[in-house]
Amino acid sequence: MMFRIPEKMLMGVATASMQIEGGEVDSNWHDWYRQGRIKDGTNPADGNDHWEKWREDTALMAEMGLQIYRFGVEWARLMPTPGQVDEAAVARYREELLLLKENGIRPLMTIHHFSNPMWFETIGGFEKRENLHFYLELVELVIDRFGDLCSDYITINEPNVYATNSYFFGEWPPARKALLPTLRVMENLAYCHIRAYGIIHEKRRAMGYDDTMVGCANHLRVFAPKNPKNFWHCIAAKLTSFLFQDALTKAMTLGRFPFPLCNWGKLKTGEYTDFIGLNYYTRSTVEGVGDGVRENSPRNDLGWEIYPEGIVECAQALYDVLPRPIWITENGTCDNDDRFRSRYLYEHLKAVSESTLPFERYYHWCFCDNLEWVEGNSAKFGLVKVDEATRARLVKESGRFYSAVIRDGGVTREVYDKYVSGREYDIR
Ligand code: BGC
Repeated sequence: MMFRIPEKMLMGVATASMQIEGGEVDSNWHDWYRQGRIKDGTNPADGNDHWEKWREDTALMAEMGLQIYRFGVEWARLMPTPGQVDEAAVARYREELLLLKENGIRPLMTIHHFSNPMWFETIGGFEKRENLHFYLELVELVIDRFGDLCSDYITINEPNVYATNSYFFGEWPPARKALLPTLRVMENLAYCHIRAYGIIHEKRRAMGYDDTMVGCANHLRVFAPKNPKNFWHCIAAKLTSFLFQDALTKAMTLGRFPFPLCNWGKLKTGEYTDFIGLNYYTRSTVEGVGDGVRENSPRNDLGWEIYPEGIVECAQALYDVLPRPIWITENGTCDNDDRFRSRYLYEHLKAVSESTLPFERYYHWCFCDNLEWVEGNSAKFGLVKVDEATRARLVKESGRFYSAVIRDGGVTREVYDKYVSGREYDIR
């Protein structure tokens, strides 16, 4: 054995509704496409057909030996207009949950993953406090309708990425570019998470369940000074990390809102997570305002640095805020030709397995190639290839590697030689 996976750790994959479902839905991302803002012109309605192919996809997950599956529900499907519930959509998600159970795959449901119904977006979305009750109604609906079939929930995916891409950099809908709305959205998402945490527990307790697990999927990066001996680079790295992730993590996890965030909802301090949810991808190099990529570093096909040790460094940072079991709710890479994904997986799983932190779950991003937000379908993160014309699924070599790791409970020499040896990253 090159290394063993921790005994308690369950392994599976993650997806998000907007990125794999396809179909005509009145969401902000469908609108973004209509505005011509998806770089390669991918239409989310064409998507990757999971809405139709969910039986086939579930069977494939079982065949691959996956033990856990993180997926999202699409708000605009469940509530096409405020207060209206689409019962057919509810029934369809229930069927999927049942099939997962039949196949012994434990679901983790994401309630919000970047996409909003247009009716919510046009009234100001998460920027306006008076709109937040709509999100809480979605949370109630999710637990009322799915609470008997699912015990594990993510309230919100990557609130910092959503707030900064949509409100600070203006690359995602609604494309605002200002600091104050960004901070307001962060506060509002923290408010939503903390309220949702209470609602989910209360409701499931009333349904007779005591196994509920609720958390958020935190996106953390390592922010490293370009020159560690340069005082200003060090300050810039700390400040970027604080503003992008540390302040918000503290607010979401403990109900403590460090300046410049403000606890306008007068939320009590407490412990608002049952697991540490970490989405980890990369390290950023900082020398001033904004972040960059280290020169001469291993890169993926989107130019992100590949830095496996960072998965443990970021988990440690979250563990220091509140010690809880660690679930890697996303980790993966853009590798368009599946040249180095197996090595990426190998190195990240090795770092996790050799750490003394309590890692309990690993969800690889992503089950299949999918719509990578503004990049469209051209950026490929899947263990499973989706044929562009027919939407047929084909397990990639990295997918076969992952199955072997799950089957063997670690990486054997033989599996390493077959899938990892000789697969190298690009250095740029
Ligand atoms: C998101 C995913 C995304 C992935 C790769 C995360 O930020 O949660 O939706 O596809 O990273 O960029």
